[in-house]
Amino acid sequence: MKDDKICVITGGGSGIGLAAARLLGEGSSVILVGRTGSKLELAAAELRVGGIDAQTCACDLADRESALRVADFARERGRIAAVIHAAGLSPHMGDARSIMEANALGTMNVNDAFFPVMESGSCIVDVSSMAAYLAPRIILPRRRYPLARVDRDRFMRAMMRRVNLFPIGLRPSVAYGISKDFAIWYAKTDAARFGEKGSRVVSVSPGNFETPMGELEKDEASAYIGKCAIKRFGKPEEIARLLLACADERMGYLTGVDIVCDGGCTASALRRNTTASKRSRGRRRAALDEPPWELGASSCG
Ligand SMILES: NC(=O)c1ccc[n+]([C@@H]2O[C@H](COP(=O)([O-])OP(=O)(O)OC[C@H]3O[C@@H](n4cnc5c(N)ncnc54)[C@H](OP(=O)(O)O)[C@@H]3O)[C@@H](O)[C@H]2O)c1
Repeated sequence: MKDDKICVITGGGSGIGLAAARLLGEGSSVILVGRTGSKLELAAAELRVGGIDAQTCACDLADRESALRVADFARERGRIAAVIHAAGLSPHMGDARSIMEANALGTMNVNDAFFPVMESGSCIVDVSSMAAYLAPRIILPRRRYPLARVDRDRFMRAMMRRVNLFPIGLRPSVAYGISKDFAIWYAKTDAARFGEKGSRVVSVSPGNFETPMGELEKDEASAYIGKCAIKRFGKPEEIARLLLACADERMGYLTGVDIVCDGGCTASALRRNTTASKRSRGRRRAALDEPPWELGASSCG
C-alpha cells in the first residue's frame, strides 16, 4: 500500500494485526490501533526500521467516541485504502461482558466510524473466528442481531441475557462465540451500504494461530488440533497474507462474505459431526452438542 494510501490496523500492536503490518512493505503507511500505547510504540518502531511509515493511536474500540476519533485521525493523514480490524479479546482475556463489548461493539464501532471516511476502492476486513462456526446454533441469538442497528443498549442486553443463561465458567466462551458470529453478520449486512460508495466489507475467521492470544488458549486448542486437517497451529503470516489479499483493491468483487482460514478445523469438526449423527440416529441434538461445542467452549479460535 504505497503513495498517500493508508492502512489502519486495529490490534496492530501484536499477533495477527502486527503480522499484517509487517507484510505491508517498505514505503507503506500504517496506523496501528490498540489500547496499550507502549505496545503500539514498540511495534511502530520495529516497522519504521523496515521502511514503513507507522503511526499509532491508542484507544479502546469498545467505546464509540474513541473509534470515531481514530477514523478522524486516519482521514487527516491520507486516503484510507484498508482497515484491518483485528482487535479483539478471547475467552481467557476478560469476562463475558468485556469480551462482548470488545468484539461485538468494537466491530460495530469500527465499521460505523470508518463508513463515512472510506472512499471507492477501499475495504474493511473484520476479523472474526472459527468459534462462530463451532458454537452450536442454539446458543446464538441471531434474531436479536438487527437490534445493533437501531438500539445498542437493547442489543447488549439481549446478548448478555443469552450469555447469562449459561454457567459462569462457560460465559466468556459463549460471549466469544456469539460476538464473533455477530461480527460475521455485521460485516455481511454492511456490504450493501459500503458497496454503494464502491467500498467493500469482508470478514475472515481464523482458526488457532501462534499469537499472544493463541498462546493463552493453547492448552485447550492442543487437545483437538491433531484431529484437524493440518495438524499444527497457523503462523500469523499465513492469516496476515489472507487479510491483505482481501483488502487488495484488485479483489474488487469480494464483499459480504466470511472466509475461514483454520487449517481445516471446522471441516474436520463437520466430518466428525456427520459421523456422530449417523451413529446416533434419533438423538437429534448430538450432532450439534458434541464435538463442536467442546471446541467452541475451549478454543479462542
Ligand atoms: N490467535 C488465534 O488463534 C485467533 C483465533 C481466532 C480468532 N482470532 C482473532 O484474531 C484477532 C487478533 O488476535 P491475535 O491472535 O492477534 O491476538 P492478540 O495478539 O491478543 O491481538 C489482539 C489485539 O487487540 C487489541 N485489543 C483488544 N481489545 C481491544 C480494544 N477494546 N480496543 C482496541 N484494541 C484492542 C490488543 O491490544 P491491547 O490489549 O493493547 O488493547 C491486541 O493487540 C482477534 O480478533 C481474535 O479474536 C485469533
